[in-house]
Amino acid sequence: MSDLPASTPPAPPKKVFVKTYGCQMNVYDSGRMVDTLAPKGWQSVETPEGADLVILNTCHIREKAAEKVFAELGRLRGFQAERAASGGRMMIAVAGCVAQAEGAELARRAGNVDIVVGPQAYHRLPELVARVEALPAGRAARLVDTDFPVESKFDALPEEASTRGASAFLAIQEGCDKFCTFCVVPYTRGAEFSRPAADVLAEAHRLVAGGSIELTLLGQNVNAWHGDGPEGGPWSFGRLLRTVAEIPGLARLRYTTSHPLEVDDELIAAHRDLDLLMPFLHLPVQSGSDRILAAMNRRHTAEHYRRIVGRLREARPDLALSSDFIVGFPGETEADFEATLDLVRAVGFAQAYAFKYSPRPGTPAAEMKDDAVPEAVKTERLARLQALLGEQMAAFNAGMLGRRMPVLLDRPGKRPGQRLGRSPFMQPVHLEAPAALHGRIVDVVIESAGPIALGGRLLPLDEGARPAA
Ligand code: SAH
Ligand code: SF4
Ligand code: F3S
Repeated sequence: MSDLPASTPPAPPKKVFVKTYGCQMNVYDSGRMVDTLAPKGWQSVETPEGADLVILNTCHIREKAAEKVFAELGRLRGFQAERAASGGRMMIAVAGCVAQAEGAELARRAGNVDIVVGPQAYHRLPELVARVEALPAGRAARLVDTDFPVESKFDALPEEASTRGASAFLAIQEGCDKFCTFCVVPYTRGAEFSRPAADVLAEAHRLVAGGSIELTLLGQNVNAWHGDGPEGGPWSFGRLLRTVAEIPGLARLRYTTSHPLEVDDELIAAHRDLDLLMPFLHLPVQSGSDRILAAMNRRHTAEHYRRIVGRLREARPDLALSSDFIVGFPGETEADFEATLDLVRAVGFAQAYAFKYSPRPGTPAAEMKDDAVPEAVKTERLARLQALLGEQMAAFNAGMLGRRMPVLLDRPGKRPGQRLGRSPFMQPVHLEAPAALHGRIVDVVIESAGPIALGGRLLPLDEGARPAA
């Protein structure tokens, strides 16, 4: 019951549109930014048109990151002008890794940015927004908050709501101390930080109670997680996986992105023992050449990678692997590149991403001499690697034909009556299924296999028997 006179209508919700670039951590963070704003009367919308606040959650990992942001800011000008013409205001915030790396420059150069907020300061977003709202409209406010505050944003953020769904992300670790010579992440996300086990478990329980049946634990280096246990002493990542896996109602567990150096015995044992730990692992290797791996400061050899893959597959024979590769790192010779192709042939990947090396300002590799290999050769190497990985992906998918597998239906499909789900191996699976099955794991037989996605037929639900994963 309200004490207000009946004639006072409640304030309409303010609209926030978030556009997300980059990795899953950014997807998670975008949800959490909406969570911080929701108690202040903000509602998330699907288009920038008519929004009161647009947040660009940016990525700095490869070239032209800042240019992309400027281009997007340019596109938003029209919407901003429309809002201003009707007496309103569209605020713009730039968040994420470009904000962290080039925040001050952005605020100076872009005429229409009100807020620049770095990834460790998202809990302070509502305050920044309120400060802009208090200013007269007409001029960009240019507030910049790219500190690494002493308080952890995880403690200060409200409970998650926007990251929920049949399949949900849960950030357990952030930042990176590895300093690979090509990478901006240690600079944009800061030092490695592990959330305490109790916090992770509380969030996992809330997500499952809210209907999530699949959890993906997230971190820039997720298997480097070593949070405090409830009794004080540190827990290993393997122990955390085992404990999360015991949550009643949880059917699937995944984690990403992991580093080959942090795959220890306990983690391998978790893959052996936990049925609900899905048989798909993204384990970036970057290169198959020991010389290049050393120059990248990856601190392991190609042989180490092969060995841990062998041990993981021994523990979990159906484990499918995915990886990231960088082609054309400074000084990469044809022999180095051939070593990468050899590693790919030896391991066999179900999925992979190959990128051309992109020098990032402020990283050690950007200072390395890089004139030995012409750009055209790098382009050609990338194409060769992509062709090989494409063949492996297609073969892996073709191997699914005729197989019966559990599929988690988590999205509507493109056509009416169609739903989209995920196989245990992360392949998208299209099938005809009633919308009522959304968020459920169903039994599917695979009838078609493309380079990326599979098509399947729903098998009748065997009452009482639920597919295992
Ligand atoms: N933490 C993860 C990777 C995070 S970045 C790991 O250690 O493997 C995601 C991917 O982007 C990397 O695996 C790498 O392949 C690619 N990448 C990062 N910096 C790059 C650069 N400067 N040029 C090209 N690709 C890059
Ligand atoms: Fe970047 Fe290396 Fe850290 Fe991965 S491990 S985030 S590639 S510095
Ligand atoms: Fe990009 Fe930052 Fe993620 S640079 S890949 S958004 S950690």
